[in-house]
Amino acid sequence: MPNDSIQIIEADYRDEAHREAIPYLLNAYARDLLGFRKPLDDTVLQHLVSGLAQFPTALVLLARTEGRYVGMAICFLGFSTFSARPLINIHDFMVLPDYQKRGIGNALLQEVERIARERGCCKITLEVQMKNTAARRIYQSFGFKASFLDPEAGEQLSLTKTLSPPEDAASGNGDGRGVIQPSEA
Ligand SMILES: CC(C)(COP(=O)(O)OP(=O)(O)OC[C@H]1O[C@@H](n2cnc3c(N)ncnc32)[C@H](O)[C@@H]1OP(=O)(O)O)[C@@H](O)C(=O)NCCC(=O)NCCS
Repeated sequence: MPNDSIQIIEADYRDEAHREAIPYLLNAYARDLLGFRKPLDDTVLQHLVSGLAQFPTALVLLARTEGRYVGMAICFLGFSTFSARPLINIHDFMVLPDYQKRGIGNALLQEVERIARERGCCKITLEVQMKNTAARRIYQSFGFKASFLDPEAGEQLSLTKTLSPPEDAASGNGDGRGVIQPSEA
């Protein structure tokens, strides 16, 4: 259960502490994330905050307790054409290992939901690895369900085509790799 000692704060990119916390937490997340488990490139970490600051639909929530930033949800506002209403996608969601199982993840999700309702969103979406049982449990208890248009059509898949950075693009296509993953949202 969330408690009063946990603060959930919308990141302010002009705040030095927030500018430090965002790449620190994202890197910790990458190192800990099932199926990834390695640090992010320095260039990615250096450009992260400026990139988010220039991205008008980004919403970054930071969780603070005991005087430090320990969790984060990076979300993006999207739009559901079938509902003609906005939606929020949770792109990254994490709590530092030493602070897990204290209700901080739940407090972050509650704040995402509060903001989603305030903005008139029709849904909150996210992707989770099938084998990430800890995350799936919290999502399920929070009310997330696998996404189906119709059960007979089957679960929706999350598909990715990785593209080369712009400076390499002139020489041709992206690297051509496509990744198909089962998706829950
Ligand atoms: C998924 C994640 C963000 C959850 O964060 P969290 O802060 O541990 O979440 P909560 O504490 O709110 O809830 C997790 C569990 O702790 C339990 N819990 C909450 N408060 C508790 C407390 N005071 N004492 C003991 N357990 C508690 C919850 O009931 C929940 O239990 P359950 O999993 O059996 O349902 C965290 O595990 C994480 O960062 N994982 C690595 C990154 C990751 O996989 N992110 C998701 C990618 S899709």
